[in-house]
Amino acid sequence: MSLRFHEIAETNHRILNPFTEAQLMQLGTICRLRPGMRQLDLCCGKAEMLCRWAAHFGIEGAGVDISSVFLDAASARASELGVAQQVHVTQADASTYPIAPNAFDVVSCIGATWIGNGLVGTIEKMRVGLRAADSFLLVGEPFWIDEPPEAAYAAVTGGDRAAYTTLAGTLERIEHTGCTLVEMILATHSGWDRYVAMQWMAIDDWLRAHPAHPDAAALRAWNDQGRRAYMEYGRRYFGWGVFVIRQG
Ligand SMILES: C[S@@+](CC[C@H](N)C(=O)[O-])C[C@H]1O[C@@H](n2cnc3c(N)ncnc32)[C@H](O)[C@@H]1O
Repeated sequence: MSLRFHEIAETNHRILNPFTEAQLMQLGTICRLRPGMRQLDLCCGKAEMLCRWAAHFGIEGAGVDISSVFLDAASARASELGVAQQVHVTQADASTYPIAPNAFDVVSCIGATWIGNGLVGTIEKMRVGLRAADSFLLVGEPFWIDEPPEAAYAAVTGGDRAAYTTLAGTLERIEHTGCTLVEMILATHSGWDRYVAMQWMAIDDWLRAHPAHPDAAALRAWNDQGRRAYMEYGRRYFGWGVFVIRQG
């Protein structure tokens, strides 16, 4: 149900995260991308990162996602940008997807570390795909900006206190894997606002077009809860960033 709700909520998004387009391209520069480099993007969504990086930097990208709705949008975007020969997407569960060993210059998972039961497990899963010692892992992950009030855990993470930590705690989790954090780009308030608030309008559009749909009440309740959680706690306490990591 939650996947279907996200597919509706993110109808008008290209990037399914609080990242801006400028930050997406800046990240590509940080990764020193060159033509012919290969990237695997787990949970690629609409594959905006792979498509834009293929068009701008000349990389070749493989994307994996569970949503056929998002993957259809990814294929359309690849054609639109003239990179359909460079970007290939596959529908699969990334938590069990067999990553080709030593095959990629970049392995990314931007905003879906549940595929490895958290940040540490996701890094462990991704790292087998890296080709060279200086290849990059890119992980998009939320963090707590400040210690939130107790009620924020229930509102923002469904009561899970351990899922996310502070920025310093995120660094510790990365270091626990034996990897090195070498760069990062953090979301801004305005990036978060675009990611979250665009969902409200897309859902409102959908509810107006499908007032009698059997999922309408549940979708409305999901949106109401998420919007209130963002206004009350998320915007103030919940950060998000892409962490650029190397092995060793
Ligand atoms: C927050 S979105 C991020 C998408 C993309 N990385 C981006 O930044 O635009 C999370 C994505 O994970 C996908 N997803 C969720 N669970 C998955 C799984 N087990 N295997 C593959 N994809 C999954 C969703 O369909 C969605 O596209």
